[in-house]
Amino acid sequence: QEQSERESLFIALNFAKDFFVKNLRTDEGKSIGLSYFRERGFSPQIIEKFDLGYALDGWGHMLKAAKSAGFSEEILLKAGLILQKEGDPSRIYDRFRGRVTFTIHNVSGKPIGFGARILTKDKNQPKYINSPETPIYHKSDVLYGIYQAKKAIRDQDNCYLVEGYTDVVSMHLSGIENVVASSGTSLTEGQIKLIKRFTNQVTVLYDGDPAGIKASIRGIDLLLEGGLNVKAVVFPDGEDPDSFSRKVGSQAFQDYLKENSRDFIGFKIGLYQDEFARDPIRKAEVIREIVQSIGKIPDPIVRSVYAKEASGLLQIEEEIIHTELNKSLIKSN
Ligand code: CTP
Ligand code: MN
Ligand code: MN
Ligand code: MN
Ligand code: MN
Repeated sequence: QEQSERESLFIALNFAKDFFVKNLRTDEGKSIGLSYFRERGFSPQIIEKFDLGYALDGWGHMLKAAKSAGFSEEILLKAGLILQKEGDPSRIYDRFRGRVTFTIHNVSGKPIGFGARILTKDKNQPKYINSPETPIYHKSDVLYGIYQAKKAIRDQDNCYLVEGYTDVVSMHLSGIENVVASSGTSLTEGQIKLIKRFTNQVTVLYDGDPAGIKASIRGIDLLLEGGLNVKAVVFPDGEDPDSFSRKVGSQAFQDYLKENSRDFIGFKIGLYQDEFARDPIRKAEVIREIVQSIGKIPDPIVRSVYAKEASGLLQIEEEIIHTELNKSLIKSN
């Protein structure tokens, strides 16, 4: 019973993917959706690789096509493709309308959900509308791009972690395929487990804005706790991997990543360096913060290596770091 429902949901999601992809080739799709992707520099090959598509503007295009293909309203609702009107559940309509669509695949390449981007600058509408949780789509266990990235993650033994759909697509265009997105939500244990199937090394490339930096700090601690080796890169003010790679070009982007990858200690020191000189108390706070991060590393040998590095970079005795470390280790036990 449950198994056959999951199977039906996979089939419905695959139908929807094909429908959105096909819509991109209609007159409306070409003049609105395809031209939008082309303006962002997305090639026909990359559009195909990621199953990018277009949701026609209107209330019932998906509903009508899916019903003609034999899908029940019940399964379309469960799949998150259509919605019931609040207060009048007999009225149903398409969830995704007049937006370009990003197909979210599971690790074996089956479509399990969509993110859909608005094409206007309308501030009253959310920039992205995403599939809801369904029996086959658990957001907290999914990373956008994992299917297209998994081989490269293994080969490179590193996974770039970005915030957004367009960052993943743009990095492929820049020749970097070992990249996945947490899709704007904070990183979860399930997502970290998924990465660990392919590598033990993550490089965090979040947006160069206060929200992105805050999310990096939180994400880094979670990755350390998961036993991963973590690096991070900070982008210039307001840039994300998509905007920055288009601005500087593929080669300069790749060079930037190489030259600016820091381990988590270097990353944190870099963030606060300017404040240190002016404010020694601030420096003490940051040392405590860094020691707390080191304390999250499960492997005692790795922990001790980082303790040594922190002592050198922050110019404080290793002894003090170890004392602090022991305090925080006792607390967490
Ligand atoms: N996001 C979302 N809903 C929103 C805004 C963001 O789900 N209303 C998610 C999307 O997965 C998005 C990611 O958070 O890709 C990062 O958000 P943001 O940086 O605002 O968008 P970009 O991916 O940079 O998109 P674009 O370049 O098209 O503006
Ligand atoms: Mn489940
Ligand atoms: Mn952002
Ligand atoms: Mn962004
Ligand atoms: Mn962006």
